[in-house]
Amino acid sequence: MKPVRTVLAEACARWPAGAERARIQPEIWQLACHVLQWPLERLLAHGDTPLDETAVSRLEHLAARRRAGEPLAYLTGETEFWSLPLCVSPAVLVPRPETEILIEQALARMPAGCVARVLDLGTGSGAIALALQRERPHAQIVAVDRQAPALAVAARNARRHGLPVTFLQGHWAAAIAGRSVDMVVSNPPYIEHGDPCLAEAGLCHEPRTALAGGADGLRDLRAVIADAARVLVGGGWLLMEHGNQQGAAVRALLAQAGFGEIGTHKDYAGWERVSGGRHG
Ligand SMILES: C[S@@+](CC[C@H](N)C(=O)[O-])C[C@H]1O[C@@H](n2cnc3c(N)ncnc32)[C@H](O)[C@@H]1O
Repeated sequence: MKPVRTVLAEACARWPAGAERARIQPEIWQLACHVLQWPLERLLAHGDTPLDETAVSRLEHLAARRRAGEPLAYLTGETEFWSLPLCVSPAVLVPRPETEILIEQALARMPAGCVARVLDLGTGSGAIALALQRERPHAQIVAVDRQAPALAVAARNARRHGLPVTFLQGHWAAAIAGRSVDMVVSNPPYIEHGDPCLAEAGLCHEPRTALAGGADGLRDLRAVIADAARVLVGGGWLLMEHGNQQGAAVRALLAQAGFGEIGTHKDYAGWERVSGGRHG
């Protein structure tokens, strides 16, 4: 039996030497922690522990899937968003760090202790709704998705963290059947039809229904803006994530729909990423 350290080094050596191998190394360690059900500290301290054949072949199998482009989060079934560990499966988009900009902007408009009614459209794993609920425990948060398997993942995450978000299945705000809300947040699908990135290794494993935003990528952003204009109270905020080239188009759509105080916020890489406005 080989020591775990050797098995890990052999797995990493299957990636091209240099930057790619350096980038993958921590992920291989995470896969090993997942297979062995060990915390990272134990792996670091006990690298000489011999691994049995079953563990070696499970680790090699997962490393091969990672090499084929499957996101690490699908292989471990777990990711972290806004410091919340979340379960993920191929039924949901893996929450992205840039979506935390949306959380920051929403929280800036929700004073501590606020009891606002907030609607998360296209909740996926529940990341946005659950992060907001954790930060603002008195807010009344409803989260909608069209896909039942995604809602099952979101509900599991809510149970895991004991957060009282209400989940509804439906088409955008139609799911709340005419009720009004104080804020709408959304990270809808926004990738343009035919964009080659949809076929690339990372994204091709994630649900198309979470990514593809119609011929010009704006189909779902338009739908969310129209629905938000219908359900928001006067003075209520809409905040949406969008593609890094879509800021101007989204601001124009918000203006056409009668929103005021329109603005865009950049992500950590400096791209326009979250736009929003205030309803009449
Ligand atoms: C980009 S993912 C965002 C997931 C999650 N909010 C996040 O930020 O990680 C978009 C989500 O919108 C959902 N969706 C797509 N069309 C929808 C519709 N017409 N009504 C409700 N949800 C929809 C998809 O199922 C998917 O979960």
